[in-house]
Amino acid sequence: MLWNTYKIMRTLGIWLYVVVFTTDLGMGAFVPPHLTSEFLQNLGIDPGGHRPITRPISSYVLQLFLQMEEKQDDLRMYSDRDPKVQFYDPESQTSDGLIEFDLSRAPIDGNVTKIELAFTGHTHRLFSIQITSPYRPGIRVNSFHTGQGHVADVTDLAIDQVVNTTLELFVSISKSTHQIRHLNPILAIFLDINVSLLHRDRRKRFVPSNRNSTINMETAETLNYCRLKEWTVDFRDLGWYGKFIQHPITYRANICAGNCPVAPMDPYFNATNHVLVKYLLEKRLCCSPIEYMSQTLIFVTNNMTAMQTVRGMSVSRCGCR
Ligand SMILES: *[C@@H]1O[C@H](CO)[C@@H](O)[C@H](O)[C@H]1NC(C)=O
Ligand SMILES: *[C@@H]1O[C@H](CO)[C@@H](O)[C@H](O)[C@H]1NC(C)=O
Ligand SMILES: *[C@@H]1O[C@H](CO)[C@@H](O)[C@H](O)[C@H]1NC(C)=O
Ligand SMILES: *[C@@H]1O[C@H](CO)[C@@H](O)[C@H](O)[C@H]1NC(C)=O
Ligand SMILES: *[C@@H]1O[C@H](CO)[C@@H](O)[C@H](O)[C@H]1NC(C)=O
Ligand SMILES: *[C@@H]1O[C@H](CO)[C@@H](O)[C@H](O)[C@H]1NC(C)=O
Repeated sequence: MLWNTYKIMRTLGIWLYVVVFTTDLGMGAFVPPHLTSEFLQNLGIDPGGHRPITRPISSYVLQLFLQMEEKQDDLRMYSDRDPKVQFYDPESQTSDGLIEFDLSRAPIDGNVTKIELAFTGHTHRLFSIQITSPYRPGIRVNSFHTGQGHVADVTDLAIDQVVNTTLELFVSISKSTHQIRHLNPILAIFLDINVSLLHRDRRKRFVPSNRNSTINMETAETLNYCRLKEWTVDFRDLGWYGKFIQHPITYRANICAGNCPVAPMDPYFNATNHVLVKYLLEKRLCCSPIEYMSQTLIFVTNNMTAMQTVRGMSVSRCGCR
């Protein structure tokens, strides 16, 4: 009898284990595929348009990423559109310096605010690279040397061509013409980005102070009050790194966690009048995000690399709501 009971309990236990464990796993791992697709589309990534990411990011693209990431909450020009850079590899390149880019690979959806031509090959520091356009005779742009190679601002030369499917530019090198095929040019089209901010020193951001608050971070931690907690998302866990996302591998998404106490009047809790009414009627408040920040991502979609500052990717402030 006892043995039977033990056996039943044991079997039940295993089942319970199996059910609980697999359900838990299932809930963690099973996300309806359409939801993932919709989310990727929301980020501007075509879920069906990926190819395996094999090529490393060039130092030019990486440097631009760092510049954009640093200013990512100030670059936005339109509230409804994310700042973005689309990168194009040449479709063809002749030995006399004519480079063609196929813009139909990715539609240009937004206001073009800058066009850069970067040379990611081994270019000598002392070279001077001149860029001209078959459509803008008389205009000649010189590249300038950066830590990441030669870069030229070709906005004036190329802006009229972005309506075409093909963009053509002509490059010539001052000294040795045989170097032309080693230039490895990459075209960067900046969309909806306030580029005047990109190369500036970081703007001092206004940080609202919690005046008259009696609660500091130590108190909040001791009493487990609502607060911002660091939470890092790893794109490898989503299976997106190397497939859709090329950079970064992880980013700080953050969460809000902790209790909202009985009297959320202290400014620390960032309550609004709505919250106070809700509290008077329902006696219950939730620790929630009240402000978000953008995150810049480099992703590969439809045969091209793009960099986008995606809004609402990480929590910057919490409050009781
Ligand atoms: C771009 O940034 C500059 C410098 O902060 C600012 O004066 C300008 O109004 C901004 N332009 C747009 C369109 O947001
Ligand atoms: C692009 O910018 C111009 C002015 O700079 C503006 O009139 C136009 O509405 C913008 N285009 C879009 C699609 O917002
Ligand atoms: C491409 O754009 C230029 C303007 O820069 C224009 O003159 C030319 O006719 C366009 N070519 C095609 C094939 O549309
Ligand atoms: C507290 O708030 C009041 C009114 O907002 C202000 O006059 C006072 O200076 C503040 N006290 C401190 C220590 O910040
Ligand atoms: C990607 O490029 C290849 C070769 O250039 C082409 O065959 C394919 O259709 C492209 N895919 C997309 C989604 O543009
Ligand atoms: C409320 O906002 C202030 C200022 O950003 C912040 O320091 C504080 O931690 C926020 N309160 C909570 C509960 O997160």
